[in-house]
Amino acid sequence: MRAESAIPPGQDGRDLARAVRDGLAGGGPKSLPSRLLYDDLGSTLFEAITRLPEYGLTRADDRLLAAHASEIAAFAHPPLAVAELGSGSGRKARPILAAIARRQPEVAYYPIDLSKAALAQCRVELGGIHGVGVEPILASYGDGLSEAVARTRSGERLLALFLGGTIGNFDRGEAVLFLGDIRSRLRPGDGFLIGTDLMKPVPALLAAYDDALGVTAAFNKNLLVRLNREVDADFDLARFDHEARWNDAERRVEMHLVARSAQRVTLRALDLVVEFREGEMIWTESSYRYEKEELPAMAARSGFDCLEQWADEEWSFAETLLTPR
Ligand code: AVJ
Repeated sequence: MRAESAIPPGQDGRDLARAVRDGLAGGGPKSLPSRLLYDDLGSTLFEAITRLPEYGLTRADDRLLAAHASEIAAFAHPPLAVAELGSGSGRKARPILAAIARRQPEVAYYPIDLSKAALAQCRVELGGIHGVGVEPILASYGDGLSEAVARTRSGERLLALFLGGTIGNFDRGEAVLFLGDIRSRLRPGDGFLIGTDLMKPVPALLAAYDDALGVTAAFNKNLLVRLNREVDADFDLARFDHEARWNDAERRVEMHLVARSAQRVTLRALDLVVEFREGEMIWTESSYRYEKEELPAMAARSGFDCLEQWADEEWSFAETLLTPR
């Protein structure tokens, strides 16, 4: 996939139009960037995915953060501030913020997100923890992190969070660039906590991306619903199947939308007609799997030291706590 595929540059109409032209109009393999999956309905469907019996990722992340919040909070002497890259509602940061708030009278929390609605939700979700001050930053990861660093007071350290296994959507090369970029914005003594989903048996992985209730299929096909609405397209949902596949060479789960028959789709607002052969696919997401040692090794090459790593036993997932070397 293209290098910017997982990095949200904003969900405006021009971004959508450009991504759709790039991904569907050329003669080559069709693809759409995974960030397009998260409109309002898509975000709600993803929220439902996190409750599915087959999708253990979010529960593992939550268990680890709940179990180790005190150790995470104690990685540096107070005072600490917290920045979260792609905070969403801010729900995941709660145990860490509560643990830090037990060690110092006040803690600033900077949720960084491109969604105004998500940032508004953070205030509601976390404003109630005694001593926590929520200061939302509407920005991309890098700009937002630099802004949070600039807002820290003298002697205050910043703990940056990147939770939920979101790094899995980056290509491996993108992930290295991302770590280097984060490293360049943090200062010695700061921390970076990152969640990664680990390798597990392929049948369990595939079930997590093709659940029995069909929620992930709906999440994937919602991309077509979105195109029908936003660029006046005429995708017939009954003529596309959801498919999750394991790519062993790349160690990633891929989501595809597969045309059940040859067809022609018109995207009126883009003045575009797209032809599909029977079985032709639109590649919509990659979700990479890591070995436990892999993230600390990549981070070391980006100038981080690994302070600690915790893994879940039930669903292999790891939280890795890094600090700039
Ligand atoms: C939000 C990127 C962690 O890759 O597991 C869930 C997104 N896609 N089911 C993942 C997703 C299909 C999820 N991440």
